[in-house]
Amino acid sequence: MSAQSNRLKRITIHTLGEMKSAGEKLVALTAYDYCGAVAATAAGVEILLVGDSLGMVIQGHDSSLPVTIKDTAYHVRCVRRGNGGALLMADLPFMSYYSAAKSLENAAILMREGAHMVKLEGGAWLAESTRLLSERGIPVCAHLGLTPQSVNHLGGYRVQGRDPTQGQLIIDEAKVLQQAGASLILLECVPASLGRRLAKALTVPVIGIGAGAEVDGQILVWHDLLGLYPGKTAKFVKNYLKGKPNGVQGALADYVAEVKSGAFPAAEHCYS
Ligand code: KIV
Repeated sequence: MSAQSNRLKRITIHTLGEMKSAGEKLVALTAYDYCGAVAATAAGVEILLVGDSLGMVIQGHDSSLPVTIKDTAYHVRCVRRGNGGALLMADLPFMSYYSAAKSLENAAILMREGAHMVKLEGGAWLAESTRLLSERGIPVCAHLGLTPQSVNHLGGYRVQGRDPTQGQLIIDEAKVLQQAGASLILLECVPASLGRRLAKALTVPVIGIGAGAEVDGQILVWHDLLGLYPGKTAKFVKNYLKGKPNGVQGALADYVAEVKSGAFPAAEHCYS
């Protein structure tokens, strides 16, 4: 099997900007391995994110906090080999960007492994890192709204920005980060009206997860899209396999049933 692409051209930060200007929605999805990257890009996904959600969906932790730069670098390597032309974004994990110098050191590791952009969670305090990274040639995505690395500070995975002052703060901080050089904003778990206001207020694209329909694009976690995550899922999750007879759960159930009944392997699966 080899990585194939249905695209002629690789997606870059310039493509993303052009798509926002043209009113074309961006499609993003997390990816953690070769086959996932091949399948997603063959389907037309434009941004692949090696998210620190890998701490939960790959490693089985109850948060993203235990993920290290080494873990992320490993998954960037895997995804890079299967990427058929998407922009490959990678999360800087918890505490890997506590200072501007640290963010540069760790972002360089991910870029050398094949990332095209790094994502950092937080507001205006990241302006210095964002400026440093983008001036040194590393595109930055700023993650605002619900920032899961701060779950202990936020007191849980809750909707952010419902309060008008807090909502305005998110918009103001996004503007500061855009000014500092961020090329993309990821907005998580906020009221749809705030998503719409932010996408209108910025020139750079805003992709949302639980940020409503009027942002510039959407992102989902691979395991949520396929209904593979056994834990509680958020309201914004859509399981695209639910109710489909040939979905992953259906395939697993059929396999178990056919081995039990003796229907698998059939003659065509056996050597003579
Ligand atoms: O780590 C992750 O998967 C994320 C999601 C919000 C897409 O950042």
